[in-house]
Amino acid sequence: MKKGAVSLGVVGCGYWGPNLVRNFKGLPNCHVKAMCDVNEARLSHLRTVYPDVEGMTDHHEFLNGIGLDAVVIATPVKHHFALAKASLLAGKHTFIEKPMAASSSECEELIELAEAKGLVLMVGHTFLFSAPVRKIGEIIRAGDLGDIRYINSRRLNLGLFQKDINVAWDLAPHDISIILHILGELPVTVNCQGNAHVTPNIEDVTNMSLTFRHKRFATIQSSWLEPRKVREMTIVGTRRMIVYDDLKTHGKIRVYDVRVERPPHYDTFAEFHYSYHYGDSYIPHLQQEEPLKMECQHFIDCIEQGTAPETDGRKGLELVQILEAASRSLKANGAPVTFSKPREVVSFAQPDDQELVPEPVGA
Ligand SMILES: NC(=O)c1ccc[n+]([C@@H]2O[C@H](COP(=O)([O-])OP(=O)(O)OC[C@H]3O[C@@H](n4cnc5c(N)ncnc54)[C@H](O)[C@@H]3O)[C@@H](O)[C@H]2O)c1
Repeated sequence: MKKGAVSLGVVGCGYWGPNLVRNFKGLPNCHVKAMCDVNEARLSHLRTVYPDVEGMTDHHEFLNGIGLDAVVIATPVKHHFALAKASLLAGKHTFIEKPMAASSSECEELIELAEAKGLVLMVGHTFLFSAPVRKIGEIIRAGDLGDIRYINSRRLNLGLFQKDINVAWDLAPHDISIILHILGELPVTVNCQGNAHVTPNIEDVTNMSLTFRHKRFATIQSSWLEPRKVREMTIVGTRRMIVYDDLKTHGKIRVYDVRVERPPHYDTFAEFHYSYHYGDSYIPHLQQEEPLKMECQHFIDCIEQGTAPETDGRKGLELVQILEAASRSLKANGAPVTFSKPREVVSFAQPDDQELVPEPVGA
């Protein structure tokens, strides 16, 4: 496709959609032509902010009547599938916000449709475009942390309460996408416990654990019922550890040169001493770029170059499969759910690890 020619529209202009409009508008090779929302009051507000962007309530006209090349979907999750399917059928490259859809079967249908039509299908796993997460991936792949032992992630705040999904489907996609990126593989089992305190049947507090091969595990705490906003992840390796606090303006990542070792062998209790290593800590330098801008640029680049996005439909599907497993575990009071074998492992899994991916159980 010719540079500067991507004509794009955003459907769903509530809390998050306007951020997508702003970032796509800032790209030189993209023209944001229209915003679509069923809520006329919301559109009239946005028309005052972006008077050069057409505001429409009729999504049929939006998809078929104004010559868009690409569509970005930022509606509540229950509408993702129908809107994305209509967009792909209308021949538009399609970006869907996380989580990709309300079920893995919906994700599979969208992947097949995009492949059949030769269209770009991308999912908004925004944190994979953030400088801290990219830097953490570099540090780990360079071997600086040793082997990862566990990851603990906390994403907590007061609200925003969603009506169609629980807090795990709303907030944990960010943590799950980061954890899969860091570990480069899919979980063996998924457990989730939680409670619906405010809206019946919609959990507002959940604790999820993902177990991986070689006794590695990750825990994810998600809450809409927390007085403070917390966005923290700890990654513990055999040689070093990282604390990632996304709310810090500077020093979002700190690498700690600390570890504990057991003596390899000893004869008497008197000889047995744990060895605690306390070294320095440092803050790696990060490029200051808005992750959403990088993500939007990647979508446009993939359209122009005809390449598959890093966060393509299959990554969206894997994440939804994990959320489905978490929902099944929630219903079973946190019992472990064996994770079905996905179609492929995530991008940088070690080739010699692949034989250990568990067989599907059809759970
Ligand atoms: N990547 C991120 O960091 C991030 C952050 C926040 C939200 N999100 C995602 O963005 C999506 C939207 O979340 P939100 O918080 O903005 O929701 P929201 O409820 O604030 O806004 C959704 C908007 O979609 C409109 N809408 C609903 N159905 C529609 C339809 N059929 N056609 C056109 N418009 C329709 C609503 O009127 C509303 O204005 C969700 O998938 C959410 O998970 C992503």
